[in-house]
Amino acid sequence: MTNIAIYPGSFDPITNGHLDIIKRASKLCDKLIVAVLVNSSKKNLFTFDERIHMIEDAISDLDNVCVKTFSGLLVDYCTENNVNAIIRGLRAVSDFEYELQMAQMNRKLEDNVETIFLTASTKYSFLSSSIVKEIARYKGNIEELVPKKACEYLVEKF
Ligand code: COA
Repeated sequence: MTNIAIYPGSFDPITNGHLDIIKRASKLCDKLIVAVLVNSSKKNLFTFDERIHMIEDAISDLDNVCVKTFSGLLVDYCTENNVNAIIRGLRAVSDFEYELQMAQMNRKLEDNVETIFLTASTKYSFLSSSIVKEIARYKGNIEELVPKKACEYLVEKF
């Protein structure tokens, strides 16, 4: 059986914290899909194409990782694409309640798909896409917070 995992999110933009989870998760499965949510209620700064381009550039050296977009329910995408596991990162206790609720609801909707939590590396536990955008907006240094292409896009955007 091929183990296919999915790492879903908004990635507006991808950060080094996301990339850390992607690299570690890619070692646990045969194939990892980084899935960018299309129908998010969030107001995103970057277009899908921009977000996908930033992720593709960041994962170019990871052979078993690809980027896709999805809309609708995550579990439906999983069923349609033979995905066995959903990967989510936990940065702090504050992430846990929301993540637990999502994992349990996804399990209720589709019990063939497991959620696997990876704890964020401590050096990225304070990172979020919003905080990176805020720092970039006020011309702070984001070089150590996001992959190279994301840094270029952020500098250009602001
Ligand atoms: N490093 C850095 N940032 C991280 C992180 C990490 N390891 N883990 C989480 N984050 C941050 C993100 O940057 C993001 O920050 P922001 O709010 O400042 O933008 C925040 O945590 C959460 O974003 P994300 O992980 O992208 O999740 P989300 O809440 O935007 O989306 C989905 C979660 C896509 C998994 C969920 O909405 C979904 O499955 N939607 C599809 C519809 C569905 O099936 N709904 C039913 C679910 S039960």
